[in-house]
Amino acid sequence: MHEVLQALHADHVNLSRLLTLVQRELRKPEQGGDTDYATILDALDYIENYADKVHHVRENEIYARLEQKFPDRAELVDELRTEHRRLGESTLHATQLLSNALNDVVLDKQTVAAGVTDFIGIQLQHIGREEREVFPLIDSLFEPADWQHVIAQAAQHAEDPLFGAQTRDRYRTLYASLSAAGE
Ligand SMILES: [Fe+2]
Ligand SMILES: [Fe+2]
Repeated sequence: MHEVLQALHADHVNLSRLLTLVQRELRKPEQGGDTDYATILDALDYIENYADKVHHVRENEIYARLEQKFPDRAELVDELRTEHRRLGESTLHATQLLSNALNDVVLDKQTVAAGVTDFIGIQLQHIGREEREVFPLIDSLFEPADWQHVIAQAAQHAEDPLFGAQTRDRYRTLYASLSAAGE
């Protein structure tokens, strides 16, 4: 697989680790524990700032090339763009639910858990589709010139603030939670 796709695949692995951590937090009440909403909010903040603003932007550049070179794939690219938009909306929605819970505006923990569970579901579904269907397709269709085009087009891509070379202060606690969970 081309190194551009390998980097995006690594993001998927990291995102899955993060979603597993969130899922575990949500299930704590089943074992008599308390959900740490602050950890989930940190995870959502990372997803909003990295997955939605950097990872999806990179993918959209690749999908734009796919559409340009292979017009018969336009429908697929359209669906993926729509999924990216919905993912971004769902992150914001889940963040809103969590912020309300933390501020005691909404006390219905089941509503919060249901909203965050939906969020996890659509994230995993999208990642699964890209891993199974989209990345292998692109890897088989793209030629070196396509990758050169994608790399030349690349916007200024920010370093990953959680899993990158240096974890930003904002995500230190989250990083520690991931390590403690063995994720
Ligand atoms: Fe994507
Ligand atoms: Fe992705």
